[in-house]
Amino acid sequence: MNRKEAITRVAELTSSLNRHNHLYYVESNPEISDYDFDMMLNELQKIELEFPDLVTDHSPTKRVGGDITKKFDTVIHKYPMLSLANSYSKEEIEEWVNRAKKLVDGNLEYVCELKYDGVAIGIQYVNGKLKQAVTRGDGTQGENVTSNVKTIRSIPLTLQGDYPGDFEIRGEIFFPLDNFRKLNEQRRKNGDPEFANPRNTASGTLKMQDSKVVSDRGLDCFLYGVYGTGDLKPGHFETVQKVADWGFKIPSEKKRYIEKTTSVDGVMDFIMHWDEHRGQLPFEIDGIVIKVNQYHNQEELGYTAKSPRWAIAYKFKAERVESKLKSVVYQVGRTGAITPVANLQPIQLGGTTVKRASLHNADQIQKLDLHFEDSVYVEKGGEIIPKIVGVNLNERKPEAETVGFIDQCPECQTELIRREGEAQHYCPNEVGCPPQKKGKIEHFIGRKAMDIDGLGAETVDALFEGGLISNVADLYELTFDQVIGMDRMADRSANNLIDGVKASKEKPFHKVLFGLGIRFVGETVAKKLAKGLKSMEAISKASFDELVAVDEIGDKIAMSIQEYFLDERNRKIVERLIAYGLNLEVVEKEQASNVLEGKSFVVSGVFNAFSRPELKEMIEANGGKNVGSISKKTDFVLAGDKMGPSKLQKATDLGIKILSEDDFIALLNE
Ligand code: IVH
Repeated sequence: MNRKEAITRVAELTSSLNRHNHLYYVESNPEISDYDFDMMLNELQKIELEFPDLVTDHSPTKRVGGDITKKFDTVIHKYPMLSLANSYSKEEIEEWVNRAKKLVDGNLEYVCELKYDGVAIGIQYVNGKLKQAVTRGDGTQGENVTSNVKTIRSIPLTLQGDYPGDFEIRGEIFFPLDNFRKLNEQRRKNGDPEFANPRNTASGTLKMQDSKVVSDRGLDCFLYGVYGTGDLKPGHFETVQKVADWGFKIPSEKKRYIEKTTSVDGVMDFIMHWDEHRGQLPFEIDGIVIKVNQYHNQEELGYTAKSPRWAIAYKFKAERVESKLKSVVYQVGRTGAITPVANLQPIQLGGTTVKRASLHNADQIQKLDLHFEDSVYVEKGGEIIPKIVGVNLNERKPEAETVGFIDQCPECQTELIRREGEAQHYCPNEVGCPPQKKGKIEHFIGRKAMDIDGLGAETVDALFEGGLISNVADLYELTFDQVIGMDRMADRSANNLIDGVKASKEKPFHKVLFGLGIRFVGETVAKKLAKGLKSMEAISKASFDELVAVDEIGDKIAMSIQEYFLDERNRKIVERLIAYGLNLEVVEKEQASNVLEGKSFVVSGVFNAFSRPELKEMIEANGGKNVGSISKKTDFVLAGDKMGPSKLQKATDLGIKILSEDDFIALLNE
């Protein structure tokens, strides 16, 4: 393909991908399959790789992410981002309406909207292109999170129709509940701690440095206001309908996500409807927003120091129900943490039947002064799992016994411990306690550890319960016949599992070390230990002083490592892993020279004699360091033929030396 053909094809693909993205994510009415969409996107990615100067800031490939932002720039809002006054009752809404009526001539119209529970965002469009997206921050200035916002599929990168030249649109970025559950499920499988609630997770996600991660998590956005458009339409409701023509996702009237009314009764009807049905929404809301519709009325009403007088939020009370405490059970997590859980008389709450509620820890039980058969108040807060917030003392039976805490692990009867300063009790029997044993295997096969293809948490569960494995070393003795004998296991899956386990023997040492799940030995610590001590044997035999001499290893980690290897059962597992041929030492790459000692490189573009990975390897083999992105600290940029113009510009601006492939070879030979 020549350049001219590429230009035409990029334009065709961009337009087509934008259209199909809109049909899928905004209109929920796709015309082509996901496969066909991906094929088009792949084609565009390939062309962009070949002709990097054809990549624009608004290319549909930006949806996939990949841009890294080390530090988000601060941006001052052109229009301050205010908050809303809150109200909690019909009386307060009536007061607000009456005050508004006094200040305004004529009849008022009100727009009722959902109050999405997420993170506010202001997005600027110039000449129909998404220019900048900024978080609320303190209302006066926020953070520039443009790269991350561009990955949200329902936010258009390029507008259609008769949009104004320069305007800002504001809305709320949120985590759809389905995607939030999927993310937590994935984290459970990987042995990562689960996220507590969708709002905080949306906020954290928006500020992640790697936009690829943001893209994968599947955030969404609803828009609720435009600024700088002039009087496009006489009122807010009509403007919201109008921005749909430019490609924005707006709240559906049909689903009653937005409604216009002229009376307090109309407003209250909307509020009551959603107070009852909010549990059925595919996202979380924390109230309703009521806005005076006509812009000239909004102007008359004006603002207080913090919020507009023309709008008010109605906040839902956390839904609270009463139920009977039947029993308390104690769950043992993969790390040995004990969580008390209350079994309740089943009760309806927020659209679901609740049978269990978390009691968190011993302190919480004590604080509630919980007794058996108590009548308890249950709420669904920001967290997914409901919690007990109080006891109805009028219903307490005089002979009721206090709920205490257990001394022994319910799974293995080991004496529980509670470390100083911690609220949680733990079962210390890491090696012998069944849920902890199973948890250790799940951790070992997880994505960040051995990442074993064909093996997931469910299969581990079945293998463990079936007595086929009881620790990570057992995985390497599994046979096809054993696996195929399991329920619902097809030939192909059994083969994949066996092949996956075999392939994992090639994983580098630090992944195996991390996979063992030694307390406090996370991914980074495992890398440092591998780099410092080189082999499992050395680590297992290292004295306390030798361990703390390793970069970033402190007393706590050193003690935990020593404790791990003191246990005969752990040593046995490690010995078996060695025998099965796993990498239990660092495979040293041959060091060619140290001419690049202390120098950091960014390698970018396409080269003639070597591939990018080959060049990176050469840098390391000669003592240099590869870094991901250009910064003041970068010494050299090794620039290939089709390096992106913005990177080149950045390197030039920072005065970083730019090397061609030939320059690099010459440098090595110096
Ligand atoms: S209108 C002047 N409409 O609630 C403020 N805000 O407490 C105009 N929010 O920071 C905001 N849903 O992030 C508006 N439908 C909605 C909203 C909404 C959620 C958030 C917004 C704002 C906060 C105000």
